[in-house]
Amino acid sequence: MILVTGGAGFIGSNFVLDWLAQSDEPVVNLDRLTYAGNLQNLASVQGDARHVFVQGDIADAALLKQLLTTHQPRAVVHFAAESHVDRSIHGPEDFIQTNIVGSFRLLEAVRAYWSGLPADAKAAFRMLHVSTDEVYGSLAPQDPAFSETHRYEPNSPYSASKAASDHLVRAYHHTYGLPVLTTNCSNNYGPYHFPEKLIPLMIVNALAGKPLPVYGDGMQIRDWLYVRDHCSAIRRVLQAGRMGEVYNVGGWNEQPNIAIVHAICDLLDELQPRAAGGSYRQQITYVADRPGHDRRYAIDARKIESELGWRPAETFATGLRKTVAWYLANGEWVRGVQSGAYRDWVNKQYGAAVAA
Ligand code: NAD
Ligand code: DAU
Repeated sequence: MILVTGGAGFIGSNFVLDWLAQSDEPVVNLDRLTYAGNLQNLASVQGDARHVFVQGDIADAALLKQLLTTHQPRAVVHFAAESHVDRSIHGPEDFIQTNIVGSFRLLEAVRAYWSGLPADAKAAFRMLHVSTDEVYGSLAPQDPAFSETHRYEPNSPYSASKAASDHLVRAYHHTYGLPVLTTNCSNNYGPYHFPEKLIPLMIVNALAGKPLPVYGDGMQIRDWLYVRDHCSAIRRVLQAGRMGEVYNVGGWNEQPNIAIVHAICDLLDELQPRAAGGSYRQQITYVADRPGHDRRYAIDARKIESELGWRPAETFATGLRKTVAWYLANGEWVRGVQSGAYRDWVNKQYGAAVAA
């Protein structure tokens, strides 16, 4: 079996669902269920004996030891993190605690477990650390895309905390020989994406008749990847990646934010026209920029393609259409995550005009 951390969040839950759809190998899913963790994401595997959910913190050394000893996983896939840049600007402390201290505790527990394994299990074991392209910092318009050897230049408390965890993972390989793999991926989108991030926020605000808040001039560039493609990349790296190596994962799909928002509005105009008439584009509102906002990310994903034969299956057009259709079909899920705490966040970040 495998142990997954953060498997009730956006990418982690997609990973667990995909894993169980393709394999009978059980998953132990350790998640603290912060505001971003949601058992509704896993409703379709509730009662499935192959999925063991454990609510707990990756910083809890005793719990980690007990889980590893009891379940004897052959691999660990580490998703758990605080993941939203804007929240890290308002309050970095949780990011330091989970992304750095939590990852450190996990590495320590995994090292102790792995050290005690019999030789064949020890040789087969691996831990995959899920990281982000944001650790590389911001690119100028003509710069080449991030390769795996690009220097680390994190610019937000979130990306700095992820960079720290990447360094710890690297150090545990070099110092202790721990068999680790790291993936640095670009922006994901798809089902179960919490509506604090750009794409789901724009969809749910558009449908609710609320403003679509675009930061600054809307010309910041991100590289977007459909979440299921990220999951297939992780499975492939886990299966065949070289120990200690880093693999960048991306969608070959750089776009400015305003183009993303326009694409969402155009799809909604087609699939669910506004009752009042006119385009959802009328709801676009330019708001104050994110402090320290990175201008451009771009991933050079040639290494994972040439070594492991992975390429994304979805184009942005097909992936975004699936995503918008999913949100239209899953209004109950959306209402479920729009709790009082969610409304407090929207108020704090955007003010009453967007929250109303
Ligand atoms: P998310 O915020 O949707 O989910 C994070 C999950 O981790 C939640 O279920 C939460 O409850 C859990 N968690 C948080 N702190 C925990 C703790 N201390 N112990 C146990 N569980 C805890 O995040 P996501 O977007 O699914 O991202 C998953 C991973 O992928 C993160 O490591 C993130 O840095 C990385 N990543 C995300 C993206 C993206 O576009 N979303 C891109 C590249 C990499
Ligand atoms: O690049 C990978 C990263 O992508 C992951 O490591 C992070 O966990 C994930 O949150 C994401 O970070 P971003 O900051 O790029 O994603 P976000 O959806 O918050 O913002 C995407 C872009 O849209 C960014 O340039 C900021 C802008 N934006 C975002 C929001 C929420 C807006 O213009 N308005 C908004 O309301």
